[in-house]
Amino acid sequence: MTEGGNADVHEDIDEILITAEEIDDKIAGLAKQITTDYLDRDLLLVGVLKGAFVFMADLARALRIPIDFDFMAVSSYGSATKSSGVVRILKDLDYEISGRHVLLVEDIIDSGLTISYLLRYLKARGPASLEICSLFWKRGQQTAPFDVKYPGFDIPPVFVVGYGLDYAERYRNLPYIGVLKPSAYAAD
Ligand code: IMP
Ligand code: MG
Repeated sequence: MTEGGNADVHEDIDEILITAEEIDDKIAGLAKQITTDYLDRDLLLVGVLKGAFVFMADLARALRIPIDFDFMAVSSYGSATKSSGVVRILKDLDYEISGRHVLLVEDIIDSGLTISYLLRYLKARGPASLEICSLFWKRGQQTAPFDVKYPGFDIPPVFVVGYGLDYAERYRNLPYIGVLKPSAYAAD
């Protein structure tokens, strides 16, 4: 329950698709694998804002190797729930990635347009290696194939919120991912 004029964000959720505990377990597994794979290489995590900030924070704290952080911010959605196909860079990298081992950390891959664009963009800057870790993946929705070395959950092609993912900038703070009640879209 919340007090004051704001409603409880949990009350706008119709169905929880993946619980906080399931997410924790998955991240522990991903972190173990990444820790092993990068034991002998300096790792730079590049998070894609805003959605990946929650995942990046939890993943980074589960890794047992030294890491550096950088962030990019991109906008890929024309409307709130449909991909526009146009990717705009809102914030570029702070550091050069030439010769670095880069792991691109994404919240979710839907059409794949955002990640394909970022891969091309980052490759052009000459990293020593470049891999993708995405917590959620709407498999089968991608227009072009690409390799996700560290995939989290396959989810159905429905619009989800929580754990960094938003609808109209809301619901990023939910600890799980879920589907909104139809009434939540109508509100505003
Ligand atoms: P793509 O370019 O279609 O792969 O979309 C990727 C970006 O769209 C993600 O980084 C998210 O910010 C956003 N996105 C895709 N699917 C969802 C969803 O179900 N809920 C919230 N945001 C989403
Ligand atoms: Mg978004």
